Amino acid sequence: MAGRIPQPFINDLLARVDILDVIESRLTLRKSGAHRYLALCPFHDEKTPSFNVNTDRQFYYCFGCGATGTALKFLMQYDQLDFVPAVEALAAIAGVEVPREKSDRLRAEASDRLYSVLAAADAYYRKMLKQHADAARAIDYLKGRGVNGLTARDFGIGFAPPGWDNLVRALAQAQTADLTDAGLVTSRDSGGVYDRFRDRIMFPIRDLRGRVIAFGGRVLGDDKPKYLNSPETAVFHKGHELYGLFEARRTVRSLARLLLVEGYMDVVALAQAGIGYAVATLGTASGTPHFEKLFRYAPAVICCFDGDPAGREAAWKALSAALPALGSGRQLSFVFLPDGEDPDTLIRKEGKAAFEARLDGAVSAVEYLFTRLSEGLDRRTLDGRARLAELAMPYLQKLPTGVLKDLMLRRLSELTELTAEMLVRQLATAGPAAPAPLAARRRGPIESKISRLSEYLLTSLIQHPELVKELSAERRDDLLALDDCLLARLVRHLVDNPDADTAALLGYWTGETEHGTLLGLAERRLMLAGEALAREFADAVDQELAARAKANRAAALEDLRSDGSVEKLKSYWRLKRQETESSNG
Ligand code: UTP
Ligand code: MN
Repeated sequence: MAGRIPQPFINDLLARVDILDVIESRLTLRKSGAHRYLALCPFHDEKTPSFNVNTDRQFYYCFGCGATGTALKFLMQYDQLDFVPAVEALAAIAGVEVPREKSDRLRAEASDRLYSVLAAADAYYRKMLKQHADAARAIDYLKGRGVNGLTARDFGIGFAPPGWDNLVRALAQAQTADLTDAGLVTSRDSGGVYDRFRDRIMFPIRDLRGRVIAFGGRVLGDDKPKYLNSPETAVFHKGHELYGLFEARRTVRSLARLLLVEGYMDVVALAQAGIGYAVATLGTASGTPHFEKLFRYAPAVICCFDGDPAGREAAWKALSAALPALGSGRQLSFVFLPDGEDPDTLIRKEGKAAFEARLDGAVSAVEYLFTRLSEGLDRRTLDGRARLAELAMPYLQKLPTGVLKDLMLRRLSELTELTAEMLVRQLATAGPAAPAPLAARRRGPIESKISRLSEYLLTSLIQHPELVKELSAERRDDLLALDDCLLARLVRHLVDNPDADTAALLGYWTGETEHGTLLGLAERRLMLAGEALAREFADAVDQELAARAKANRAAALEDLRSDGSVEKLKSYWRLKRQETESSNG
C-alpha cells in the first residue's frame, strides 16, 4: 500500500507541518541556534545531546548514531509507525485528509466485502455453538479441556456443524466469490462450492481492530489435520498475524509484556487461568514481522517453547528472526518448559503463580545467544574464545544500533577476553561486504565510528572540495599516506586538481563503483558552512587519523596473539609508538 498515497501529497504535507511541532511534543528541546534545536537522542543512549533539529531545512540529524530524516521519518522511527499510519498521523496534525489513488479505493471496497462475510460467518459459528443439535459434543470437548463459557465468549469460540453446506446455506445472500475469496468455502471441480470448516471448534482470528480476518478450526477428536486454518487472503497474512493480540490488548491497553506461545489452545488456557497476555503464531514459525508487531505493543516479549530438541530448535530460529527487531528498550527472553508439557497442560497442572514464576526466571536473549553459541567450545582456551567471537559476529550484525547491541558487544568482550575495539573491527569485516560509507549508518555507535567519520569527511569534501586547501600540510600528508581507500583517493585527486568542483569530481568518478556513493553524499545536507565547517572538518580529520591508527594497532595485536613472531612484535610496537607520537604531537 506504501506507494498508493500520491507523492505530491506527501511533499505538500511535509511543507505544511513544522518538524518542530512534531518533535517538540515528544522530546525536550533546547534552542541552540537561529534554526537549530538540540536534544538527547531518542534513538541511542547518550548523556550529552547530539540530536539536532534544523527548522530551516526541516530535518533532524544525530551526530551520535546517524539517525536522520524528515518529520515523517521521525514519526515512523519514534512512534514506531509504518509508512501509511505515519502519513495519516502527519495529515492529522495538518488537519487534512489523506487522498487515496483509485485502485486503492477499489481494493478497500473488496476488503470490506471480505470483512463483512467473515463477520457473518463468525456470528453463525458462535450461534451454532449455542444452538446446533450437535453443539453438546463441542461444549463437552471445551469443558473437558477446562475452557469455561466466559473464556469461550471472550475469544468468540464457535462451532462449525458437520455437513458440507451449512455455511453456504446460512450465508446464501452473500456472493459466492466473496465466500471463496474470504477462504470460507472451497470450489468443487464439478462447479459450486462447499464449506471449508466442518465439524470443528472454531477459533476466530481477529486483527487489532477486532475484525475477524480468518479462522482456525480444531477437530473434536483425533482426526487429521488437527487444525485447519484459513488460507492466505487479501485480509489475512499468516506471517504477520498473532492469535490473541486483540484479546490481550482489549484486557490491558498498555501491556508490560507479551508471551509468545505455539498454539491456539495455549493462548485460551492461559487466559482462562488469568494470564491474558499470551499470543500465538498461526501454525507458522515466528518471523521478524511477528516480533516487530509484538514489540510495538509491549516492551518485553517472552518466548515460550517446549524443552525438547524441536522446541529448542524453534527457539533458536525465533531468536534469529527477532534480532532485527531488537531496538533499544526492547527485551526478549526465553522460557523452556519441561519435556512433554505445553503451556495449556502446565498452567492447568500448576496454576498461575507457579507459571508466572517460570516467566520471571526467563533467560535473556543475550545469555541465550552466548550459551547456545558456546556449546561445544572450550572458553578456557584462546581458540575457543576466538571461535565464539567468530560465531557471534553474524548475529551481532543483525542487531540494529542501540543499547542492546552495545550490551552484547560488552558481554562478548567479557566472555572472549577480546577488547571491544577488536570485536568491532571484526564486526566491520564479518559477513557480506557492504559498500562501506553508506552502509555505516545502519551499524552501531561504537563500531561504525571509523566509517561514519569517513562518511562525514567524504560528504564534506565532495560538497566543498576547497576544504583540502585549508588543511595543514601535515594533515594532508597523513591523509595521502592512508591505505588505499576512497578518502585517500579523493584527497589525492584534489591535491592534483586543486580547482575541481563537485561536478568535476562526480564526472571524474563516473563509471567507477564509488560513483553512486559519492553522488549520494553530494546530495546530503551539511549542517555547517564556512569557517565552522572548516574547523569541524579539521577536527574530524584528526579523529579519523587517530581512529585508523588505533584500529591498525588492534589488528596488529590480534595478529600477534595468533602468531607471536618477532616480526609481528616489532610491527606492533612500531604502530604503538606512532600512535603515541601522533596523539602527543
Ligand atoms: P500443536 O499441535 O502444538 O497444537 O500445534 P496445540 O495448540 O497444542 O493443540 P491442542 O492442544 O492439541 O489442541 C500448535 C499450533 O500449530 C498449528 C496451530 O496453529 C496450533 O495451534 N497447527 C497444528 C496447525 O495449523 N495444524 C495442525 O494440524 C496442527
Ligand atoms: Mn496443546
